[in-house]
Amino acid sequence: NLSGLDLRAEIDRLRKERKAVILAHYYQKPEIQDLADFVGDSLELSRKAAATDAEVIAFCGVKFMAETAKILSPEKIVVLPDLDAGCSLEDSCPPDQFAAFRAQHPDHIALTYINCSTEVKALSDVIVTSSSAETILAKIPPEQKIIFGPDRHLGGYLNRKFGRDMLLWPGVCIVHEAFSETELLKLKAQHPDAPIAAHPECPAHIVDHADYVGSTSGILNYAKATDGDTLIVATEPHIIHQMELAMPGKTFIGAPGADGNCNCNICPYMALNTLEKLYLALRDLTPRIEIEEGLRLEAKKSLDAMLAMAS
Ligand code: 13P
Ligand code: SF4
Repeated sequence: NLSGLDLRAEIDRLRKERKAVILAHYYQKPEIQDLADFVGDSLELSRKAAATDAEVIAFCGVKFMAETAKILSPEKIVVLPDLDAGCSLEDSCPPDQFAAFRAQHPDHIALTYINCSTEVKALSDVIVTSSSAETILAKIPPEQKIIFGPDRHLGGYLNRKFGRDMLLWPGVCIVHEAFSETELLKLKAQHPDAPIAAHPECPAHIVDHADYVGSTSGILNYAKATDGDTLIVATEPHIIHQMELAMPGKTFIGAPGADGNCNCNICPYMALNTLEKLYLALRDLTPRIEIEEGLRLEAKKSLDAMLAMAS
């Protein structure tokens, strides 16, 4: 029974005792973001995981992110507060089917979104995140044939922006898929001067209305740089917490789903992590991420290619 515990104080005590670093994605609940040592997008969190000298990484995000941390820092203990924190993009791309897709296109390289399993990373040539995809794609010669998975919306956005014709795996993020164009246009009519910032995991009918398209940290930087007192945010709404901390005078409105509000756009996987589970993960050093060494080394190649090409 944890009811009598001061969870924040206990997490702080355990973080020091365990020599742990707490990494959190922008889609985590505000109370987790507030006590994390570092909050960031997928690329920033990967870099932090690769560089930290902590002995334990408590990863407040989803499983593919914690696995990325373990692939890059195998000597560290990596805990994820809830092992069921998955991702619809990862689920859409079973490794055996992805291997068959690759085999059908032997003259293509596999450029793969980081939102996938370790097995799919091992089957890929270069991993991208939403903040590194454009830089990396720009370095790949236009004549090079590419398969892109698992996010068909991010892949479609890149195809349109760069005039490429990458073959797309048909996966989607259920969170970004849920935005409603009709409701977005109604909201825009109420706030005609408010720009719209959208994540590239959104379908084209949402991205087409956006003044800015980018990763979570890109959207946050856009919010800081852009004039005006209101911004419409078409990504998981927990990122608005960082915007409100940085710009207390501004209004940030989460883009709506079909029901007219942004609650259906909360990521159900990210939401599985709680302060209680984080406390238990630090106390018991479980659930731990473990990856078989041969698989880890294969997956590391495509992640290393990303880290080298992203800068
Ligand atoms: P980024 O933080 O890299 O933009 O990723 C968004 C996302 O959906 C992570 O699951
Ligand atoms: Fe996956 Fe979408 Fe949740 Fe990100 S927001 S973890 S892409 S389901």
